[in-house]
Amino acid sequence: MACSDNTRCDGRIIIAIDGFSGSGKSSFARAIAERLGYIFIDTGAMYRAVTLRALEAGAISKDRVDAEKLERILDGMKLEFRVGENGNSELYVDGRRADERLRSIEVSDAVSRVAALPQVRRRLAAMQQEMGRVRSVVMDGRDIGTTVFPDAELKIFLTADPAVRAARRYKELRAAGADVSLAEIERNIRERDAADQQRAVSPLRRAADAIVLDNSHMTPQEQMEWVLEQLRARGFQPSG
Ligand code: DC
Repeated sequence: MACSDNTRCDGRIIIAIDGFSGSGKSSFARAIAERLGYIFIDTGAMYRAVTLRALEAGAISKDRVDAEKLERILDGMKLEFRVGENGNSELYVDGRRADERLRSIEVSDAVSRVAALPQVRRRLAAMQQEMGRVRSVVMDGRDIGTTVFPDAELKIFLTADPAVRAARRYKELRAAGADVSLAEIERNIRERDAADQQRAVSPLRRAADAIVLDNSHMTPQEQMEWVLEQLRARGFQPSG
């Protein structure tokens, strides 16, 4: 397929899903990608992978971010999404599959500070644009509809009550064996909501043409029906 350098290949579709931490963006985006045969790009996982590497390298501590060291880390890091045998897309960092350490509370606590750095956002956004240039993607994050793909075919802004979001993440982390409290998670979610909305570069906000979906009381099936309806309303015919 011939694609020029700066334009999307013909017929490719970008679905951008932005919203608050723990609103279920990743599960929703993954399910849509699976349903439509697109690739799912979890941009939060990219920010988390950079944060984990920075923590391991001592580039961030409680009160300091070593921006130079962080840039060197970014220079040497290769991030890609591969579709596994089960059809799920997974993040690979330097050829190795990212694991559950990305979801640890240490990474969750530090990631907002890394995501606030313009040099980090610039580089990750460029990688994300490249990922969406050659194939149809469902991409979830905070700035996809506003900054990374302002011309996405469908933009969704996902939201849910903070208490509902905390309860969901608590269940996930406990199922994975983590020793965390609900209060700790709710605090982390509220802090990240504030940090995401207040940062100077690419703050979380709804794109003017994004449709808001509050999924506090919706099942995954109801959300899927809703998105298929949105696609049909835009003249796309999701198969199956
Ligand atoms: O979606 P998540 O909770 O895994 O995201 C982790 C962090 O990364 C979150 O604090 C916000 C940040 N992030 C961002 O700033 N921009 C994105 N496109 C995706 C995530």
